[in-house]
Amino acid sequence: MATKVQLFCLTLFLFLVSHNANTLQTYIVQLHPQGTTRSSYPTRLHWHLSFLQQIVSNEEDAFSRLLYSYRSAMEGFAAQLSETELQTLRSSPDVISVRPDKQLQVHTTYSYKFLGLDTSGDGAWYQSGFGRGTIIGVLDTGVWPESPSFDDEGMPPVPKKWRGICQAGQNFSSLNCNRKLIGARFFIKGHRVASVSPSANMIQEYVSPRDSTGHGTHTSSTAGGASVPTASVLGNGAGVARGMAPGAHIAVYKVCWFNGCYSSDILAAMDVAIRDGVDILSLSLGGFPLPLFDDFIAIGSFRAMEHGISVICAAGNNGPIQNSVANTAPWIATIGASTLDRRFPAVVRIGTGKLLYGESLSPGKQMPGSGSELKLVYVTGGNTGSEFCLRGSLPRSKVRGKMVVCDRGVNGRAEKGEAVKEAGGAAMILANTVINLEEDSVDAHVLPATLLGHAEAIHLKAYINSTRNPRARIIFGGTVIGRSRAPAVAEFSSRGPNLFDPSILKPDVIAPGVNIIAAWPQNLAPTGLPDDSRRVNFTVMSGTSMACPHVSGIAALIHAAHPHWSPAAIKSALMTTADTNDHMGKPIMDGNMPAMSFAIGAGHVNPRRAINPGLVYDIRPDEYIAHLCTLGYTRSEIFTITHKNVSCHEVLLINRGFSLNYPSISAVFKQGTRRKMITRRLTNVGSPNSIYSVEVKAPEGVKVIVKPRRLLFKHINQSLSYRIWFISRKRSSTKKMDFAEGHLTWAHSKNNFYRVRSPVSVTWK
Ligand SMILES: *[C@@H]1O[C@H](CO)[C@@H](O)[C@H](O)[C@H]1NC(C)=O
Ligand SMILES: *[C@@H]1O[C@H](CO)[C@@H](O)[C@H](O)[C@H]1NC(C)=O
Ligand SMILES: *[C@@H]1O[C@H](CO)[C@@H](O)[C@H](O)[C@H]1NC(C)=O
Ligand SMILES: *[C@@H]1O[C@H](CO)[C@@H](O)[C@H](O)[C@H]1NC(C)=O
Ligand SMILES: *[C@@H]1O[C@H](CO)[C@@H](O)[C@H](O)[C@H]1NC(C)=O
Repeated sequence: MATKVQLFCLTLFLFLVSHNANTLQTYIVQLHPQGTTRSSYPTRLHWHLSFLQQIVSNEEDAFSRLLYSYRSAMEGFAAQLSETELQTLRSSPDVISVRPDKQLQVHTTYSYKFLGLDTSGDGAWYQSGFGRGTIIGVLDTGVWPESPSFDDEGMPPVPKKWRGICQAGQNFSSLNCNRKLIGARFFIKGHRVASVSPSANMIQEYVSPRDSTGHGTHTSSTAGGASVPTASVLGNGAGVARGMAPGAHIAVYKVCWFNGCYSSDILAAMDVAIRDGVDILSLSLGGFPLPLFDDFIAIGSFRAMEHGISVICAAGNNGPIQNSVANTAPWIATIGASTLDRRFPAVVRIGTGKLLYGESLSPGKQMPGSGSELKLVYVTGGNTGSEFCLRGSLPRSKVRGKMVVCDRGVNGRAEKGEAVKEAGGAAMILANTVINLEEDSVDAHVLPATLLGHAEAIHLKAYINSTRNPRARIIFGGTVIGRSRAPAVAEFSSRGPNLFDPSILKPDVIAPGVNIIAAWPQNLAPTGLPDDSRRVNFTVMSGTSMACPHVSGIAALIHAAHPHWSPAAIKSALMTTADTNDHMGKPIMDGNMPAMSFAIGAGHVNPRRAINPGLVYDIRPDEYIAHLCTLGYTRSEIFTITHKNVSCHEVLLINRGFSLNYPSISAVFKQGTRRKMITRRLTNVGSPNSIYSVEVKAPEGVKVIVKPRRLLFKHINQSLSYRIWFISRKRSSTKKMDFAEGHLTWAHSKNNFYRVRSPVSVTWK
């Protein structure tokens, strides 16, 4: 009872505080780029400050309120304002919008404090020479520059167009950059003003580009890390580690801190990265789905796209819940996660002799007591969270010397291992619940441990329940490659449909995101836990955070091969060449069902084919504006995103029946409609005198007519359009939304390599 009362008081207190008119909060203020007052000031900074000077008592105060002045990602600034000041500012004619700063998170599978694990770059796609000279900007938690993955041996010189810097700070000097890691900056102002001081047990935070949590080191090495011949995590997954684009340069922008990543800091990093001269921006972070005009990643990346920069973002880890996919702007490439065919079997043999399949990166043989039969215990009852193995919840008398079963969820997976070890336990079995089902992210645990899927966990618990003396042993099988079906959809990967824009299918593609091994800070344990004293150069992590930099690296390869391609053309190449079958030639699975395009988008990235797609669906920046008009956005909402003042009435009059030239196709039947026409335009980037003909697999309940059915491209760069009619065979009479899907492929008449495939999705609203 006492705690309830306290909690209530606390809530009330917060409520009062947040409504105090004098409390300062961070807001992002967007200005009209051709503002009427702009010309009265010598510089942009003076102009931005003038808005604060009008509302703050003296000039000095005004400057101290300003966090950032933006110009390339957006026109405007971030500042600390009170509620009263906000009202005054809103009425200023040059102010387009004022929005509160937002806290976002990195997209690892458990991001609770970035105390994550590991995952690795899958070097299978490596094509020597490609990626050379391309600059990948990574917005994340920073970098550990001494990692062998950032060695610059054999790297070409820093590109001439590079304008970035190597910003010195705490434990980071400007000499930490080289020809591989060509730039490093940090953006902390938004985070600093929003965060109360870290609690005592908080991991050390470097006020510099140096990575204190490991996430950014991991993602940037996955995108463009150098080859390291002897990478492994405590002997597991041993092999050559290399990023997707080992010839690419990396520029690191630290925007995520112990308390998350703030929009004001992210926007500041994008603002600078556009001017620094990056070719690719990789963002393994985000939040929940938002309308585009409310989403600063969408706004900043629109400007980046206009500058020819490809923006690649993680889809989020809120799957398998529908509508959970985030970062869905059509000018962003949105990346879901898949599994690799690399397994780390660690089977549990229970007392009856039955074998339960589990996986573990735990260094079995190297640990004392590993592999021997132990008493098995699952501590339930009470309300201390002992079934989840929360720290301090396990009675020493019950678990000492035993193998402890811990349910997944609530606290971090590796932290459970530490709790068991602290209480005197000898080994651990992590048991998936209905939430995680068969998802199998592994960790470099501090004690012998394995992870069981939900089905096996049920068997295990029934066995414990059935005998007075339950016993088990873990049999560690090392690293096994190629024997299981892969890729498959990662359980946690966020799913469509796209909540705010069902006419654009998201995610766009999937890429490896489960148990990825990549670079890690040399002063952190492989578990990221402060009390774990082991040190490694590589560790394993899981999340769409890990999938995103794989595609960023592959986009760098495409960019290096085709320097003049637009971000839309690069994305089209990634999507139309993606695989929908797994390595055994059967449909990619999502759990025990073939995956829908709401899970995999166009499919699993295939870099070898994406370098040479034959045809691309290109999009000009102004076409996105027409698309925003079709969404019914207001003039000011469109202005917020695009900085263009357009009349949608006129735009849609000129572009009758407009459809965005997206590489995937999504038809939405609104209530009462039975017909829908969509247009597409293909550009030849393959060979001259090419004939393509269309193959259609119509979604169930729909008739699909494509005209023309053959396209003859005489020249390179030639564009040809086609139309697709969808005729619904059923009325959308039911109250419930309904979906069906198929695909459409343009196949080259002679060259089998050129098959330009689009998923087709139909929605009845
Ligand atoms: C950071 O720098 C300080 C002072 O130079 C040094 O004492 C400390 O060991 C460094 N910490 C790390 C983790 O490098
Ligand atoms: C254990 O057995 C009891 C009684 O037979 C049953 O009520 C309970 O649900 C079982 N628990 C599990 C986890 O199987
Ligand atoms: C990590 O890399 C450094 C530098 O390449 C090397 O000296 C060190 O031995 C490596 N550590 C481990 C544990 O492999
Ligand atoms: C856009 O144009 C209209 C009409 O030309 C004008 O009234 C309006 O103020 C403009 N808005 C912005 C944000 O520039
Ligand atoms: C195609 O267009 C690109 C960019 O406009 C140009 O660089 C390239 O030379 C063109 N290729 C041909 C064969 O015309």
